[in-house]
Amino acid sequence: MALITNIEDLRQLAQRRVPRMFYDYADAGSWTESTYRANEADFQSIKFRQRVAVNLENRSLRSSMVGQSVAMPVALAPTGLTGMQHADGEILAAQAAEKFGVPFTLSTMSICSIEDVAAHTSQPFWFQLYVMKDRDFINRLIDRAKAARCSALVLTLDLQVLGQRHKDLRNGLSAPPRLTLANMLNLATKPRWVLGMLQTPRRSFGNIVGHATSVSDMSSLSSWTSQQFDLSLSWRDVAWIKQRWGGKLIIKGIMDAEDARLAVASGADAIIVSNHGGRQLDGAPSSIAALPAIVDAVGSEIEVHMDGGIRSGQDVLRALALGAKGVYIGRPFLYGLGAMGREGVSKCLEIICNELDLSMAFCGLRDVAQVDKNILLPGSY
Ligand code: FNR
Repeated sequence: MALITNIEDLRQLAQRRVPRMFYDYADAGSWTESTYRANEADFQSIKFRQRVAVNLENRSLRSSMVGQSVAMPVALAPTGLTGMQHADGEILAAQAAEKFGVPFTLSTMSICSIEDVAAHTSQPFWFQLYVMKDRDFINRLIDRAKAARCSALVLTLDLQVLGQRHKDLRNGLSAPPRLTLANMLNLATKPRWVLGMLQTPRRSFGNIVGHATSVSDMSSLSSWTSQQFDLSLSWRDVAWIKQRWGGKLIIKGIMDAEDARLAVASGADAIIVSNHGGRQLDGAPSSIAALPAIVDAVGSEIEVHMDGGIRSGQDVLRALALGAKGVYIGRPFLYGLGAMGREGVSKCLEIICNELDLSMAFCGLRDVAQVDKNILLPGSY
């Protein structure tokens, strides 16, 4: 068993174990990937104030996100095709999150369906919704999420159109993979993954089966997206979804203070400052750079969450210090899943939790509720 001490170890192991097209799918950003890179890089310039000789007994990371108790303020982000990083990936990730006491968010574009995940977990998870033109289909998805006792709806607004990811086009991404010679040669080097897939019936988009008959590769996924996703989406639709859902609503994909104010007016319970992990508008600022202005604009009225580029507990601490009430991790848990299945997702959460706890202690704090800008070096953010 490889020694895993940080998220980078999980990434390297996932790269060895997951077929290239699915590893690349997770690893990709759009176009030049400049926003994807900035998401990670911009965390590094934010410096902490180290404090000493402070009582560090009885530390606590317990917090809440949209009123729900969490073991630490870190949730698993919605990610499409998670069941292609590892067989039954969404179920395994949801189980690891449940065991750890943090929220798992199931993507509309998952392989395991809402019902599959509900049948294999006992705590409520969150469901992420894309807005499609077909309102009957949205109604059905919302009803399915309610029937599965999902405890929050994450409404993603930054994917009316799809950012181009060169890697996916070059690899001919499809789920399941088409058996070209190049794919078969690559699959031959990933026996664990192949064996896992042979043992599960779940190999295509579980939530949109019956609705999407032609989503077989990336070009059909992008044309499906442009046919199905609602180009005329407006804040009126958001208010309709809020009313139709009736529960906690988290709006994902906010990068602008003006949009944050509109999200507050639409009745959302929280917003996620997110550029979709650098997968949509290449050239947008990093999420951590966009966070402070949005917290200034609406932080007193609504919970502000963020995601993008978090690769350590130190990054979680930086985001919390800049005003995020909670954060989400995407690729780090996908790397854990691809590397070691459920155990890898648990490992990812343990690593981040441990780094967050120790770094908070170095800054002289015992309770995550005390984290604020005072732990940061002025001028470094
Ligand atoms: C995503 N993301 C995403 N977001 C969403 O709302 N619905 C989705 O289906 C997906 N799918 C998806 C697939 C993959 C492979 C990735 C990496 C990301 C975006 C995701 O929720 C989150 O915003 C980013 O992953 C956060 O950035 P990091 O943590 O990956 O750097």
